[in-house]
Amino acid sequence: MVGIFGCVLKDGNAAPVVHAGLRRLEHIGYDSAGEASVNADGLHVRKGVGRIDEIHSNFSLDDLPGRIAVGHIRWATHGAPSNENAHPHVDCEGQIAVVHNGIIENYAELKAELESRQHSFKSKTDSEVIPHLIEENLKKGLGLVKATREAIKRLEGSFAIAVVYAKEPDKIVCFQKESSLTLGIASNATYLASDTPMFLPLTKEAVTIDNQELAVIYDEKYDIHQIGDWSPVDKKPELIEWVPEKAEKQGYAHFMLKEIHDQPVSLRNTLRLQDQYLDLMTTFLDRANEVFLVACGTSYHACLAASYMFSKVAFLSTHPIAASEFIEQEGKSINIGSTILAVSQSGETTDTLAAVEHARLQAATILGLTNVLGSTLTRVSRVYICPQSGPEIGVAATKTFTAQLSTMAQLALRLAKLRGKISNKEIDLIEEKIALIPTAVERILQTQEEKVRQIAKKYRGQKFFLFLGRGISRATALEGTLKLLETNYIPSMPFAAGEKENGPIGLITEGFPVVFICPRDETHEKIVNDIKEVKAQGASVIAVVEEGDETIKTIADDYVEVVKDMPKILSPIFCIIPLQLFAYYMAVERGLDPDRPRHLTKSVTVK
Ligand code: AGP
Repeated sequence: MVGIFGCVLKDGNAAPVVHAGLRRLEHIGYDSAGEASVNADGLHVRKGVGRIDEIHSNFSLDDLPGRIAVGHIRWATHGAPSNENAHPHVDCEGQIAVVHNGIIENYAELKAELESRQHSFKSKTDSEVIPHLIEENLKKGLGLVKATREAIKRLEGSFAIAVVYAKEPDKIVCFQKESSLTLGIASNATYLASDTPMFLPLTKEAVTIDNQELAVIYDEKYDIHQIGDWSPVDKKPELIEWVPEKAEKQGYAHFMLKEIHDQPVSLRNTLRLQDQYLDLMTTFLDRANEVFLVACGTSYHACLAASYMFSKVAFLSTHPIAASEFIEQEGKSINIGSTILAVSQSGETTDTLAAVEHARLQAATILGLTNVLGSTLTRVSRVYICPQSGPEIGVAATKTFTAQLSTMAQLALRLAKLRGKISNKEIDLIEEKIALIPTAVERILQTQEEKVRQIAKKYRGQKFFLFLGRGISRATALEGTLKLLETNYIPSMPFAAGEKENGPIGLITEGFPVVFICPRDETHEKIVNDIKEVKAQGASVIAVVEEGDETIKTIADDYVEVVKDMPKILSPIFCIIPLQLFAYYMAVERGLDPDRPRHLTKSVTVK
């Protein structure tokens, strides 16, 4: 997950322009960066670990010569942050430099193939295969454009790239597949950027590069072709009217809303996780005598949902536990046979790391699931997985929650396979449906957002909400409550719906709002009764239902619909989307800033 930027200037030095462009995205918090330029003297590359300005003060990025340069800021996904893993990556002869955003799924096979032909690799990234593939095509006598096109044909995954070549110092070749890439057109330069804000202060004229299009940029022109049949694409620049503030958020009013909408893409990334890591973690889970799922806040809610997934499909009993309670509750019983799966967006949460450290000292096996490669959690874990959600800026975790769920669902399914616990037919069906998660989430966002906004308008004056769910939806209820609580300061309460008679029912008076999470799973019939019971006490019910659930739609006061016919273990991924939107629109309706919740930080790293 990264930013790429490049420019071809008519005159002057491109490197400082690229440096300034990369700096415009730096607030997101990248871990390494670099630039490459080309001129008559050849290719020049400088890169390192840290923030772009630190790298500049160590390596004088702005001194790179030439009017053509590309640059990169990195959020590590394959290979921890290091000088070698920083971009740009080059070929064996140091003639070609590539910056890359995205994931090359088949890089391991390509790397092995290239190594067998004596290519030497310096990094642990998936990206480095690209300059080597281009190098081979150039050696066959192709020019840079064709050599890049042929290399792209070998790549699987989603990615945007920009390529410069010492022997053709008049152009940058760039391409995107299921990623984002925009050209900026000015009278004295042409830019390319993964994120429009990088060039926005320089020009407001932009050309969007669509899926599977390859663009070649020169100082005064650009050519675009469809990669498949090489048909030319004629596109005129369009005017971008975003103010820089909004542009950082790609046109969304807040990071929280942007990140809610990032979910189809981030969920697509979780489906591209490397098999070997998922398999390795599955093996450790299978061998464990006991498994603790340890986390805080939203990540804990993902663990709670995952405990249902592991139990339902892999017949593995796990113990989800809030990291702050772990040592008190389980400290003495942890031993060499215990396995801890620690889940943390940041990989730096104090309580989670303290729990892990305690368990490590008792010789337990530590597995990690974190969004930040190179974080402390990755360093202390025997095996870790990074769900590749990209940086999350909003304090309220959204896209990282669904990515954690998708990753743990995949682990549960692999474990089920390994243990032979469910039939091949069931496994095939779940696998088929898991592949549909990103489009299903896209559809919920497209069809339900306006409806949620209206519901938020209606309920914005409420002082308290009850969130109820049964089974795996108890985790969704907890997470829905947390979203509302942290962005709106509304003292809401999540409960297992089956427990409502043990207290919460007493709260209900005429018009009291109760949010029900109601997927059509084995708890559905009971949830229908729960709704009828609170309605009898006068509650106003907002229900999250599956499309076509007429039973609940007719008894609820308000409802939002999520996709139907998906495996029940995946329901939190879908049901949480309207609840994230609800928290967001409630905050907006109530004049609060959802990106800056009072007294809260993104993750708790001091105690
Ligand atoms: C959730 O919206 C909050 N940002 C917070 O509860 C968070 O989930 C918790 O602090 C855990 O953070 P982590 O996933 O980075 O460990």
